[in-house]
Amino acid sequence: MGDDVNPLVLRVATLSDADILLAWRNDRETRRQSKSTDKVEQSSHVSWLTAVLNDDDRALYIGMDGDEPVGSVRADRDAEIWTLSWMVAPTARNRGVGRRIVDAMIARLDGEIRADVRIGNVASMRIAERCGMTQMDADNDFTYWRMKK
Ligand SMILES: CC(C)(COP(=O)(O)OP(=O)(O)OC[C@H]1O[C@@H](n2cnc3c(N)ncnc32)[C@H](O)[C@@H]1OP(=O)(O)O)[C@@H](O)C(=O)NCCC(=O)NCCS
Repeated sequence: MGDDVNPLVLRVATLSDADILLAWRNDRETRRQSKSTDKVEQSSHVSWLTAVLNDDDRALYIGMDGDEPVGSVRADRDAEIWTLSWMVAPTARNRGVGRRIVDAMIARLDGEIRADVRIGNVASMRIAERCGMTQMDADNDFTYWRMKK
């Protein structure tokens, strides 16, 4: 699924994406699957986004399907290891967007890439696998995925 639709383009996120990112982040399913499951308030979200956009060790992109923002993917670098996280707009799920934004992000990175996926997040585990990552470990809450490029 997803290979026969428009190519999906990643563009760098900006502060004007604050509202959509907050809406996606506070979506019930996103919260359920995130490390921090609390609802995020607008003021702390804008501070967080400003810090991310100004940090050379963090890359935040919006996946665009034509004119429609359909998801976001972030890469955080720590000691030369990139950790990825992603979310798809609630209205754009189940049509291959998740896999395509993660693929496009990985294409921009070199070195070691990781993702921590909550147990039960079957779609994200499948995304990690389809994008070339291998599950290295798991604990009670998370599965730990890795690849080298
Ligand atoms: C999880 C999430 C990213 C999935 O995005 P999506 O665009 O709907 O996923 P895709 O359509 O790319 O599907 C990914 C794969 O999972 C499969 N899949 C989806 N739901 C599934 C389910 N319930 N059970 C089994 N497989 C499932 C799809 O068939 C697809 O597999 P394929 O590539 O072999 O066809 C999206 O639902 C989301 O944003 N959820 C909330 C936030 C979140 O979970 N973020 C990830 C944190 S690591």
